[in-house]
Amino acid sequence: MSFAEQERCLSKLSNIPQVAFNSFNKRHDSICLPETRVELLQEIATWADGLDERCIFWLNGLAGTGKSTIARTIARKYYEQRRLGASFFFSRGGGDAGHAGKFFTSIAVQLASKSPSLKQRICEAVADHSDISSQSLCDQWHHLVLGPLSQLNDNPSQSSLVLVVDALDECENELDIRTVVQLLAEAQSLRNLRLRVFMTSRPEIPIRHGFYQIGETGHRDFVLHNISSTVVDHDSSFLARPRRCMNDFRFEGASKHTTSLHAATSIPSSRTSVAMIRFLCLARNSVSVSRCAFRV
Ligand SMILES: Nc1ncnc2c1ncn2[C@@H]1O[C@H](COP(=O)(O)OP(=O)(O)OP(=O)(O)O)[C@@H](O)[C@H]1O
Ligand SMILES: [Mg+2]
Repeated sequence: MSFAEQERCLSKLSNIPQVAFNSFNKRHDSICLPETRVELLQEIATWADGLDERCIFWLNGLAGTGKSTIARTIARKYYEQRRLGASFFFSRGGGDAGHAGKFFTSIAVQLASKSPSLKQRICEAVADHSDISSQSLCDQWHHLVLGPLSQLNDNPSQSSLVLVVDALDECENELDIRTVVQLLAEAQSLRNLRLRVFMTSRPEIPIRHGFYQIGETGHRDFVLHNISSTVVDHDSSFLARPRRCMNDFRFEGASKHTTSLHAATSIPSSRTSVAMIRFLCLARNSVSVSRCAFRV
């Protein structure tokens, strides 16, 4: 297939550029500050780089606990190592980013840019299924993602490819959420490469149910709001200490969490400075929230 034919094929796929972790509209979204989340990031890297059979890592945590920040950090890391297959950041109320209708087609478009042979396989799939963008999630996954990946034979190092899916809870349809989880778990069947799916969400019941259905052999999980108070204190101290560090923060996202944090902590709003919010976002529950906040 010529380059022009490939481009024509890919243009048939519904793609949402703004869901990628490094899209222009996310340019102000920060990654983890140095020296924060060190152990967790190491644990994720060990899983992503290792031979664990479980192809999904589900990071779940309450609002504002730092899930998206960790997802961006992971995406950035593997992007720089040229091992990020795709990233999809769901966004409630964000148009197409708020549902799964273009989830697999967007992932396929991103994957196609990762290697010429993968691009070729994906384009062949589109040529064979010209109405794939309007087909079921199951068909899209099998034809556009799993199939092309399973045919790859130019991966001698058997290294892993990482998908980052953030804020599954912001995907609007509960059945779609469960379907997405179940389909992604099939990545375990790939033998020629290890596809690692790093997912985050709030611990909402339909999502917990979805992961329960795929079982412990299909995924591992980490509960962010149960993180030990020692770690929270350590991370908080890095956010607290040097003014130089504080200046590095980007505060745009903070207001989103203010209301729930006030509710959770009963700290008067006049005292809840942006810096406090930063602490609160890293704290595991209202007890450590209070401790962190009053140290500011
Ligand atoms: N390790 C960190 N270093 C620096 N800033 C952080 C860190 N963790 C969280 N933050 C900041 O805290 C705020 C909340 O984090 P984030 O948006 O990642 O939470 P979340 O768990 O994804 O929330 P939600 O459930 O609402 O999506 C953000 O403004 C983010 O920049
Ligand atoms: Mg988030």
